[in-house]
Amino acid sequence: MDLNLFGKTAIVTGGSAGIGLATAKALYSEGASVAIAARNPERLEKAANTIRELPNLGNKVLPISADLTQAEDIEKVVSKTLAEFGRIDILINNAGSARAGSFLDLSDETFLDAWNLKLLGYIRLVKAVVPHLKSQGDGRIVNIIGGAGRTPRPNFLPGGTTNAALLNFTRGISKELAQDNIRINAISPGLTATERAEDLAQQTAQSRGISVDEVKAESLKAIPLGKLVQPEEIADLALFLVSDRAASITGTEILVDGGQTPGV
Ligand SMILES: NC(=O)c1ccc[n+]([C@@H]2O[C@H](COP(=O)([O-])OP(=O)(O)OC[C@H]3O[C@@H](n4cnc5c(N)ncnc54)[C@H](OP(=O)(O)O)[C@@H]3O)[C@@H](O)[C@H]2O)c1
Repeated sequence: MDLNLFGKTAIVTGGSAGIGLATAKALYSEGASVAIAARNPERLEKAANTIRELPNLGNKVLPISADLTQAEDIEKVVSKTLAEFGRIDILINNAGSARAGSFLDLSDETFLDAWNLKLLGYIRLVKAVVPHLKSQGDGRIVNIIGGAGRTPRPNFLPGGTTNAALLNFTRGISKELAQDNIRINAISPGLTATERAEDLAQQTAQSRGISVDEVKAESLKAIPLGKLVQPEEIADLALFLVSDRAASITGTEILVDGGQTPGV
């Protein structure tokens, strides 16, 4: 399928690991130049080198070390991308790291950290790129959200409340952005095989006083298709959503969760 992404430029937040890295690789392989943003510079550089090793069409990779809880770092990501690539066509909002844990054990900071990074971080990035997308009369945004937005869990409320608010934001802003041919969609992964899934299993095991293996076995049992989602599956859907093939799709959320949370 020709996705027509050659020559486009993209920002992928949290692009040094997991879903973000898989998405950055996929975009690069389609001929897009990709800016990846995350905090740890060594991991970021390593990820950039992994991407550069892929077959390419002369397109570029730009690692940008940034803490996306900070408004000034968000401006830095956008200005560095523009300085290097000259334009921004695609934004993949993906950086998130909400903790799991029992509600009564969670501090205000745990909630604030999740809201600052993912809710405010995604919103600030959309706000920062939209003027550029508007001037081009074209833009494609994908927010990686998560099933807990629609189907909350008691031991994942910082993440669940973040995700619910982001669904509201994605749908809420889509009509306004559509006037300038800017599409914004959400992908909500179920349990996906990344470092974060490992961290969450450990946090859940600790809060419930059971072993990590028990948590993993329970999680797997709850997935009708019986397997974790692979980050590349999320990347493939993101590619489709930011391509011309999805030219009439905006304001929607697509679940990729092995059938775990069917709804009408
Ligand atoms: N994995 C799952 O099961 C799952 C399920 C549903 C939704 N999701 C969502 O999918 C997204 C990606 O998850 P993942 O599993 O791929 O995570 P991951 O493997 O932990 O990767 C997270 C990425 O975000 C970056 N990051 C974290 N905090 C940051 C900050 N303050 N500023 C800038 N970058 C930051 C990390 O790099 P640094 O640490 O170096 O900054 C890393 O590149 C998240 O929004 C998550 O909520 C994941």
